[in-house]
Amino acid sequence: MTSNAPRHVAIIMDGNGRWAKQRNRPRTFGHREGVEALKRTVEAAGDMGVRYLTVFGFSTENWTRPPDEVSALMDLLRLYVERDLDKLVKEGVRVRIIGERSGLSEDILGIIRRAETRTKDNDKLNLTIAFNYGGQNEIIRAAQKYAEDVKHGRAPEGAMTPDQFAGYLDTRDLPDPDLIIRTSGEKRISNFLLWQAAYAELVFTETLWPDFGLEPLRSAIEDFHRRERRYGGAGDPAP
Ligand code: IPE
Ligand code: IPE
Ligand code: MG
Repeated sequence: MTSNAPRHVAIIMDGNGRWAKQRNRPRTFGHREGVEALKRTVEAAGDMGVRYLTVFGFSTENWTRPPDEVSALMDLLRLYVERDLDKLVKEGVRVRIIGERSGLSEDILGIIRRAETRTKDNDKLNLTIAFNYGGQNEIIRAAQKYAEDVKHGRAPEGAMTPDQFAGYLDTRDLPDPDLIIRTSGEKRISNFLLWQAAYAELVFTETLWPDFGLEPLRSAIEDFHRRERRYGGAGDPAP
């Protein structure tokens, strides 16, 4: 399918708590609605020809929230990845989970293993969920793996290119994101894809995550198409 959609869209799904507060409901209610927004967005992205969709589901800093809220955030994998796995397999979605595995419970690790194994031959849409993920944590783990490789003679000491280092990151099989969207009006990166965001276009929308779906995604992609990407070059020559 030909498409002019950006190849890789990444999303910081923010604003569930505020969405629930506006309705006088507990924050956990917002997280449940957030799962519905993710389902809509995965479908819309696939239909629009996006090949890679990466979403921020749980950060290494989100453990500081109250236990009932942490548990509601864990439900993203239970209520979506596990429950909809047959559908994801059938629809050609390849699921990957990036982030720190230690600290996650056995049942969550089982869901991750099953989802990654059962969808590994799919390639219509690559859905990556950043879960217990922090960009700094990812870079540290990559540096540690590299150091191990040097110690055991599997990697040469000294010269290292950005491409070689990227091969140690959790995202080693993914292209860098072209477009990063953050919902809810916050304008910060909050430890998401720090390395990979080097030349991503950033779109910030006021829409709260539970209200996200086809139209907000389309409008973020339209915004992306109005940008001129320069990668450090001079761009159009001056008149
Ligand atoms: C995003 O919504 C969900 C995650 C952090 C995983 P929030 O829970 O951060 O909602 P706000 O930002 O408090 O509205
Ligand atoms: C970022 O949102 C993390 C996820 C969306 C998973 P937060 O709500 O945790 O970020 P801050 O605290 O506003 O920076
Ligand atoms: Mg937030």
